[in-house]
Amino acid sequence: ACSRLVLGIETSCDDTGAAVLDERGAILGESLHSQKEVHLRTGGIIPTVAQQLHRENIEHVVQEALERSGVDPSHLSAVATTVKPGLALSLGIGLEFSQRFVRQHNRPFIPIHHMEAHALTVRMLHPVAFPFLVLLISGGHSLLAVARGVDDFLLLGHSLDEAPGDTLDKVARRLSLRKHPQCSTLSGGQAIELLAKNGDKKRFNFRTPMGQTPDCCFSFAGLRNDITITITKKEKEEGIEQGTLLSCVNDIAAATQHTVAAHLAKRTHRAILFCKANGLLPSSSPTLVVSGGVASNQYIRKALTVITESTGLHLLCPPAKFCTDNGVMIAWNGVERLREGKGILSPNIDVHYEPKAP
Ligand code: KG4
Ligand code: ZN
Repeated sequence: ACSRLVLGIETSCDDTGAAVLDERGAILGESLHSQKEVHLRTGGIIPTVAQQLHRENIEHVVQEALERSGVDPSHLSAVATTVKPGLALSLGIGLEFSQRFVRQHNRPFIPIHHMEAHALTVRMLHPVAFPFLVLLISGGHSLLAVARGVDDFLLLGHSLDEAPGDTLDKVARRLSLRKHPQCSTLSGGQAIELLAKNGDKKRFNFRTPMGQTPDCCFSFAGLRNDITITITKKEKEEGIEQGTLLSCVNDIAAATQHTVAAHLAKRTHRAILFCKANGLLPSSSPTLVVSGGVASNQYIRKALTVITESTGLHLLCPPAKFCTDNGVMIAWNGVERLREGKGILSPNIDVHYEPKAP
């Protein structure tokens, strides 16, 4: 009954999320409004549209999470909200709402870093001690970092261009996979995983990115260009219109998935060796946490398992529900910060969002 309670609010991209958690990470109430369907129709996120949808939904999403939890705002120990990184217009709505809310109810405010929240969500579910290695792979994120503490992250690598989920989505769109009956409701990454099951990954040979670059960064734009060239060539050979290829779509999907997996696995392997050489991970049961929408891909997981088994790391993937953007992960980061007394602000302090913070 005396557990501290945190309200978490997320609006950094295309999900309006809120959740109330207690100190042990029990979810007392949550609510999520996804804009994915709207953005799918326009072929990508238009920031002003995302902003308007956050504005229309934030109030009732927060109200719903609070009502489901049965917690009165006056009993909250703090309100935690994503302030970076993300779309400036989207972040602004969550921050404006939160600043008004904490002033109205006189509650402490905890600004949250969206990527740090992704990285720490696993600790809500498993007793993973610091430090651990984390690989975040989604439609908007791609990074490798050592989580050393609640507010202590060592960034080992990030994508120099686009994120792997974005690449898979764009390849899927180029192939018009939504027109395939079995893929009509799937995300690009899911569609590619499904078709790849019946494909020959060796029929097309895409070069694994950054083979000669001695760091832990990622790059997917060059690979996507190679894939697009192959698709265009095939369409020309068959004399068909763009986006109507059928003959070797499974093979292209398999080769795409294979190359993305190989790139992720190689960079992760490099990061593990770097961590070992520099004593960055504990010698007993070191852990790799993999999170983000792309982490639900079984082929990619298998590739990462090969790496963790050969290097003696323990691999943890939170369930898909906790890998994607929501208010729960933000509230959990608030709980972790509250426990350590880190980054807790009085309601009167003006906080600004930082769209491009690292
Ligand atoms: O974390 P997430 O839900 O949202 C954001 O990126 O904000 O990740 C969505 C991404 C999409 O790009 C989607 O294509 C990809 O994750 N994804 C997958 C799979 N399921 C979702 N990629 C590969 N294989 C999957 N099974
Ligand atoms: Zn995210």
